[in-house]
Amino acid sequence: MSGSAKFENQQILIVGATGGLGGEIARHLKREGAELTLSGRNEDKLKALAQGLGAHVLSADVSTSEGRIELAEAVGVCDGVVYAAGVAPVAPVRYLKDADLEACLNVNTTAPLLLIRDLLKKKKLNSGASIVWLSSVASSRGAGGYAAYASSKAALEAAARCLALELAPKAMRVNCIAPGMIETEMAAAAAERISGEAFAAHLKAYPLGAGQPADVAAAASFLLSEESRWVTGVTLPVDGGFSIH
Ligand SMILES: NC(=O)c1ccc[n+]([C@@H]2O[C@H](COP(=O)([O-])OP(=O)(O)OC[C@H]3O[C@@H](n4cnc5c(N)ncnc54)[C@H](OP(=O)(O)O)[C@@H]3O)[C@@H](O)[C@H]2O)c1
Repeated sequence: MSGSAKFENQQILIVGATGGLGGEIARHLKREGAELTLSGRNEDKLKALAQGLGAHVLSADVSTSEGRIELAEAVGVCDGVVYAAGVAPVAPVRYLKDADLEACLNVNTTAPLLLIRDLLKKKKLNSGASIVWLSSVASSRGAGGYAAYASSKAALEAAARCLALELAPKAMRVNCIAPGMIETEMAAAAAERISGEAFAAHLKAYPLGAGQPADVAAAASFLLSEESRWVTGVTLPVDGGFSIH
C-alpha cells in the first residue's frame, strides 16, 4: 500500500461486517489503506474475513447491552465507525409479532445509538471521527409489510441529526446512507416474499437498475473520509434514482 493511501493510519470499526454490505465496505476500505476491526455474530464468517483482510475481529451481539459494552471496551480508539448490522422483518401489521418488532427496533435503531454512547463514554472515538449508519430508502417511503423496518430506519436518521449536532464541537460527524435495493442476501430474502411480477414492478422504479454492494461501499468511503469534512447530519440516498419519484 502506498504512503498516500486514503485511510492510512485510520482505525475503522465495522459492525455487521459479516453481512453483504458490511463485508463489501470492509474490502473497499482495506484497499484504501484502513486498519479494520470487524464485528458481527457469525464467528466463522468473521474468521474468514479477517484472514482475507488482515483485520482484527471482535464478535458481539449488539442487541444486548453486554455485547455493546464488551465491543466498546475491546475495540481500539476509532477514526471511523460503520454500523451495517440490521434485520428486516416483513409482515403486515395485523400479523406483526411483538418479538420481531422489538428485535427490529433494537438492532436497527437502539443498538447503533447506544453503541456510540458506549464508545464516547470509553473515549474510543478520536476527535474528527466519522460515524456512518446504514439506513434505507424505506425510511421515507410507505410500503405494505414494512412498518417495523421503515420506522426503525426513520428513527435512526432522526437520531443521526441530533447526534451530529451534539458531536460537531468535537469535529465528529454523523451521517446515514439510505440504499435502495442492493443485490445481497437481505434483498434476495425480501424478493422471495413477493411474486415475480411484484418484484419486476419494484425493479422498474429504479431508473439506474438495481445497485451493487460496491455502490454503497464507495458512499461509505466518501462519508468516512476527509473529502466529506463539511458534511454532517445528512442521509445520502444511494438508490439508482429510486427516491426521485
Ligand atoms: N441489502 C439491501 O438491499 C439493503 C437496502 C437498504 C438498506 N440496507 C441496510 O444495510 C444494512 C446491511 O444490510 P445487508 O444487506 O448487508 O444485510 P445482511 O447481509 O443480512 O447482514 C446483516 C448484518 O447484521 C448483523 N447482525 C444482525 N443482528 C445482529 C446482532 N444482534 N448483533 C450483531 N450483528 C448483527 C449480521 O451479523 P451475523 O450474520 O454475524 O449475525 C450481518 O452482519 C442493514 O442495516 C440493512 O437494513 C440493506
